[in-house]
Amino acid sequence: MKIAIDSIIDQHRLLALQALLADPAIYQDGLVTAGTAAADVKQNQQADANHLEVRGALRTLQQLLLQHTVFQSAARPAGFARLMFNRFGPGMAYGLHNDGAVIDGKRTDLSFTLFLSAPDSYDGGELVLHDVSGSATIKLAAGSLMLYPAGCLHEVKSVTRGERLALVGWLQSRVRCPSQREVLFNLESVLAGIAETEDNRNQRLQLQQVRGALLRMWMD
Ligand code: NI
Repeated sequence: MKIAIDSIIDQHRLLALQALLADPAIYQDGLVTAGTAAADVKQNQQADANHLEVRGALRTLQQLLLQHTVFQSAARPAGFARLMFNRFGPGMAYGLHNDGAVIDGKRTDLSFTLFLSAPDSYDGGELVLHDVSGSATIKLAAGSLMLYPAGCLHEVKSVTRGERLALVGWLQSRVRCPSQREVLFNLESVLAGIAETEDNRNQRLQLQQVRGALLRMWMD
């Protein structure tokens, strides 16, 4: 399942992040974290996580994602493998590649990209996800996030104007099986969409019971 989550951060936080990420001094070459297979196709920059403010921003965003209802029910995170900010300036791209199945000792079930630049401020830079059903080209509003299976082949198209800033990350899910995760997400959405009334109280209780039973079966 791939899902776009709109406005995961507010405008105030977005502006603060954009200001932090405008400082060229915080960046290092993206090759420092590229696996051997990715090194041939990766041309970007990433913010040095040892930089105090970068580390603080990463920690804040991690907390924010964990508290976000939709992100939580779509991903069921057991823990983040890694989060980092990256920057693509003109001429930079990240060709077709796979992400590592294990990053820093954690299995990567899901990947995500939180777009941090306004789409009209740069050309190119689309995230393209490829699977058996074809490819999806994604360029979201600043502050919106794309969550997708970490096993999906993907690429970032070359930026031809402006700069593309993003937070990218990988996580291990408590629900390992993607189709089970999807069932739980759908069930959660149904429950959230039915306001409780006198008449439906029992049906809601039954649905919650089903959710509980599935969570007990499927969650680690
Ligand atoms: Ni990747």
